[in-house]
Amino acid sequence: PIEKLKSELLSVTSSNEWDEKAGFDINENESTVSITVVGASGDLAKKKIFPALFALYYEGCLPKHFTVYGYARSKMTDAELRNMVSKTLTCRIDKRENCGEKMEEFLKRCFYHSGQYDSEENFAQLDKKLKEHEGVVSDADLLSMIIFQSDVLVGYRGFRLFLSDALCTMLTYISDFIDELSLCQKSSTLSRGGKASNRLFYLSIPPNIFIDAVKCASSSASSGNGWTRVIVEKPFGRDSDSSAALTKALKQYLTEDQIFRIDHYLGKELVENLSVLRFSNLIFEPLWSRQYIRNVQLIFSEDFGTEGRGGYFDHYGIIRDIMQNHLLQILALFAMETPVSLDAEDIRNEKVKVLRSMRPLQLEDVVIGQYKSHSKGGVTYPAYTDDKTVPKDSLTPTFAAAALFIDNARWDGVPFLMKAGKALHNKRAEIRVQFRHVPGNLYNRNFGTDLDQATNELVIRVQPDEAIYLKINNKVPGLGMRLDCSNLNLHYAARYSKEIPDAYERLLLDAIEGERRLFIRSDELDAAWSLFTPVLAELEEKKIMPEYYPYGSRGPVGAHYLAARYNVRWG
Ligand code: NDP
Ligand code: BG6
Repeated sequence: PIEKLKSELLSVTSSNEWDEKAGFDINENESTVSITVVGASGDLAKKKIFPALFALYYEGCLPKHFTVYGYARSKMTDAELRNMVSKTLTCRIDKRENCGEKMEEFLKRCFYHSGQYDSEENFAQLDKKLKEHEGVVSDADLLSMIIFQSDVLVGYRGFRLFLSDALCTMLTYISDFIDELSLCQKSSTLSRGGKASNRLFYLSIPPNIFIDAVKCASSSASSGNGWTRVIVEKPFGRDSDSSAALTKALKQYLTEDQIFRIDHYLGKELVENLSVLRFSNLIFEPLWSRQYIRNVQLIFSEDFGTEGRGGYFDHYGIIRDIMQNHLLQILALFAMETPVSLDAEDIRNEKVKVLRSMRPLQLEDVVIGQYKSHSKGGVTYPAYTDDKTVPKDSLTPTFAAAALFIDNARWDGVPFLMKAGKALHNKRAEIRVQFRHVPGNLYNRNFGTDLDQATNELVIRVQPDEAIYLKINNKVPGLGMRLDCSNLNLHYAARYSKEIPDAYERLLLDAIEGERRLFIRSDELDAAWSLFTPVLAELEEKKIMPEYYPYGSRGPVGAHYLAARYNVRWG
């Protein structure tokens, strides 16, 4: 049969003819993507990752051939995983369409494998299951098939697509037609008629087990003929040294190109829009400097405490949890120079430059706070230290305010004020740009003190209720001359009918598509840590007491004194 087969194959002149003879569907050429959520039983996986994957599926953004695998130590069947996942999926996009059906379809593509994070054997079992979905057969299976059933050789999809180097060598020995047909060309993108098997691992696990998991996953991560990418969740260390150690350890098993360090704030619609606002509108960029901008405020607040995450949080605190990453990333995008292009490397080059132009944060420019219990309307809200996983004498800040400076020509002397806190009176994330006073003060001079001429302020409300508005002085209609401050308002809910995708959707899609623009490069990370590491060490060494503030309040008054030192009022 080998001789017969050989002559048949040698007569093939085109790849379509090959596919037809072999009985393949010639339209089935797309690659496969296997997405493994490591830590699938956890909070982030349930809350964000699975719902984001479903939303991408719903929108038709996932490749046709995809599989989602949950991996964790918890014992679960596929059905149990599906049941768990189904509870958090929502039909947020278009409630009129048959979302239930789509959910069912999506859940059928979800599977589960239970294993330890430090077990190569368990990851190898996962690899075997992934290969089954990818349509790849093992070398041993393939070899026995070739030797004993060579008459079905051409009909077996796996045969010509997924030959390993070792098998190629062996096959070349046992049958010379392999060479003649150039079957043994391994490449990451298959040149014809075949599916590349791509793999994405999402490490949604506590940081102390990142390296074990990467080591084990990488030993069996690659399908051999597609890309392998690993999304790593923050925290990326807790200071410069631990972050560098993490980077070094990751790079033992992965190349920088394979590592996707996620900062989900970069996937938020309005953060992504920052560059569009700056670089595609003539009116903003000329004003974007110390000449016109008095100060910039980056504000994050949550109206709930560390609920359920106290154990993690106590080891990190708000500066590491929010400022060093989410707020600093926004600052970098806000303040960077125009990139050469929209290419990921060009954008990240500019971000690194601006981070490296910043002064490390000084102790006198930081205020820290911690929330204490508070009763309101018959309800008692807990103190941070009431969390059972937090030591009673913890000094970990749940609030911080800081003043940062960029020592370059554009931003010299402009305070960039950051404020981040948990258990405050509201939930918001905003960028507020306060402009300088109008020179000459014409209206105040001519019409006396009843004209309260405010300075302009541009507010980019990242969440909730996304909006961009500009506070301007305006004449109140009428015969008199009175000014008020009004908003030119781009309110997203009013302007755009479509719901805004969750940040994780954008980032997962980018990782699948290999778009690195919104992920953190290792040199960016180093630059970010070098700004905060000295002050974090000082706060901890000197055991600086946080200022206590009641749950649900506006935070410590010290934040106002800090701002006042730079002539700033928080917006
Ligand atoms: P979890 O604490 O829920 O951990 C995820 C899974 O990891 C758990 O379900 C558990 O699975 C396993 N796990 C937990 N602790 C250990 C341990 N000590 N040793 C071994 N395995 C453990 O984490 P989250 O889902 O909250 O977060 C995952 C990652 O994402 C973390 O790095 C976190 O910092 C980051 N992150 C989380 C956010 C969130 O909102 N939750 C937001 C931003 C980042 P099993 O026991 O089944 O193996
Ligand atoms: C995470 C922090 O990175 O971001 C959490 O670890 C915080 O403490 C969360 O609650 C906020 O994200 P979002 O998207 O809800 O604003």
